[in-house]
Amino acid sequence: MRLENRIALITGAGRGIGRAIAEAFAREGARVAVADLSADSAGETVAAIEAAGGTAMALTMDVTDEQAVEAGVQRVVDTWGRLDIALANAGIQHIDPVDKLDFADWRKVIAVHLDGAFLLTRAALRHMYAGSGGTMLYMGSVHSLEASPLKAPYVAAKHGMLGLCRAVAKEGAEHGVRSHIICPGFVRTPLVEKQIPEQAKELGISEQEVISKVMLKNTVDGQFTTLEDVAEVAVHLAAFPSAALTGQSIVVSHGWHMQ
Ligand SMILES: NC(=O)c1ccc[n+]([C@@H]2O[C@H](COP(=O)([O-])OP(=O)(O)OC[C@H]3O[C@@H](n4cnc5c(N)ncnc54)[C@H](O)[C@@H]3O)[C@@H](O)[C@H]2O)c1
Repeated sequence: MRLENRIALITGAGRGIGRAIAEAFAREGARVAVADLSADSAGETVAAIEAAGGTAMALTMDVTDEQAVEAGVQRVVDTWGRLDIALANAGIQHIDPVDKLDFADWRKVIAVHLDGAFLLTRAALRHMYAGSGGTMLYMGSVHSLEASPLKAPYVAAKHGMLGLCRAVAKEGAEHGVRSHIICPGFVRTPLVEKQIPEQAKELGISEQEVISKVMLKNTVDGQFTTLEDVAEVAVHLAAFPSAALTGQSIVVSHGWHMQ
């Protein structure tokens, strides 16, 4: 097992990509704290991990709430003794052109991705620096590296997370902390299912055209990125035996974006 005895915390792990990574980490031997806004969905991920023989705890956490993030990280350390891997994964999407975008919607998307990533990073680093280091992971996106129309706050937030990841790689090195950002293409999770009809309406095209002409147009094989694709990369990064990949963004997009 590649993550035996490691302690991990993943935000937004109640469903979608975060859940798939939580289950993959647990299969590889990690104990996993499953943090989510939704207590029910965090509990469902924990139940699935335990049913498969793994160890997990549920944390109800809004990643934009400073006290909740501090308390959640502290609970992991109090329960399991330390924190080795933290993944800032919680995310939301909002579809609107910039000229029609409400300030409140801009702020909400930025807060969940960027404030959330900062708050988790700060809380995790305090424990990692005091111990023997660790690994910070960020769930970026191809939108950390390029833009699409109608997603300005998401694109801005994901570019910001790339900057945070790089800053942490520089600052964390002397404390034994590595930092990586995973940049997936489109994965068919609830976050993506919701935006297919929204984009169809905004662009005046069919839902099938949103899939083939917008989402998968630039892939080499016309395929969605899968949960398994992303989870395997997360395990690989978390288990990587040296700091050789620190500060790197890893694109997982079936060729949509090549860097
Ligand atoms: N699905 C994709 O195509 C895709 C592609 C690239 C990147 N991503 C990123 O992957 C991450 C996960 O996305 P997903 O597709 O699995 O989405 P999802 O909507 O299926 O899951 C997101 C999870 O985050 C939780 N969440 C939302 N706001 C939160 C908050 N304030 N505090 C705590 N938890 C919160 C939700 O409850 C949910 O369980 C996001 O950061 C997203 O931007 C997704």
